[in-house]
Amino acid sequence: MTIDIVPIRPEHPDFAGLLSGISVAGGISREDATIIEEGMDHFAVLVLRDQQMTDDQQYAFSEHFGPPEQATGDLDKSATRRLSMKINDISNLDENGAVMAIDDRRYLFGLGNRLWHSDSSFKPTPAKYSLLSARHIPASGGNTEFADMRAAWDALPAELQAECMDKICDHSQLYSRGQLGFTEWTDDEIAFNKPVPQRLVRRHAGSGRLSLYLSAHAGAIHGLPMPEARIFLRELNEHATQKQFIYSHQWQPNDLVIWDNRAVMHRATRYDSKQVRDLHRTTVSDSAPTLQQPL
Ligand code: OGA
Ligand code: MN
Repeated sequence: MTIDIVPIRPEHPDFAGLLSGISVAGGISREDATIIEEGMDHFAVLVLRDQQMTDDQQYAFSEHFGPPEQATGDLDKSATRRLSMKINDISNLDENGAVMAIDDRRYLFGLGNRLWHSDSSFKPTPAKYSLLSARHIPASGGNTEFADMRAAWDALPAELQAECMDKICDHSQLYSRGQLGFTEWTDDEIAFNKPVPQRLVRRHAGSGRLSLYLSAHAGAIHGLPMPEARIFLRELNEHATQKQFIYSHQWQPNDLVIWDNRAVMHRATRYDSKQVRDLHRTTVSDSAPTLQQPL
């Protein structure tokens, strides 16, 4: 089989590709991984259809692209959690596989995924790729949307680009969840969610392109009073999530979608919370904190 990548939407030749010609479950070669990485450098999001896989196969595939993260960003890190710590549990299921009640703290925490964000931007070294495998999807709704932060940067007026260039933001899950009124934390959770600094503008190593590094986890900007920082971030987010920058992925069972958190934001969209939605995510770490990466 040879790998083929085409734009999902011909009118958007640089954002969101459809990849065919590999089997994740069957394993891939070093050469295949290089072709996928080059495709990611160009398209930032790749969709693979009909990829039935186990968690271990997903994890082994992910390891080709960098060191996989542990799912420490999940609220439930207990021994009784439904999935191993190698997998971020992107579902509305409890440890017994039943749909969670809408007052379940884990479900409420999971609603944070409906805010535009970049995965693990709250970790000192944030995420490079996320790989999300659709195991069970609701009858309708529950798309995942992606916003192209390279195109958003390119479209920003020069004065705003200059204003963004050297800014440093603090990121924490306390900020993203705080936007939803999720504000009751244990001491351990507060300690884990100590804000971490990240560049607001970053250069993508593989493509050389600049992008806006926005995320719902960003809640402060160094050197700016809080309201000034928050309104600036809000305005940038409004700019960056306009229709022309967005690809909305409608899931089919056994889709695998890979995205580059250095180049896109993403969010889940609404669905009937009584229906099962079960996706498993592996996450690959970036090489260093953004402040240690060349701009
Ligand atoms: C994620 C995420 C969105 C969704 O997996 O990191 O934000 O549509 N998912 O579930
Ligand atoms: Mn996410």
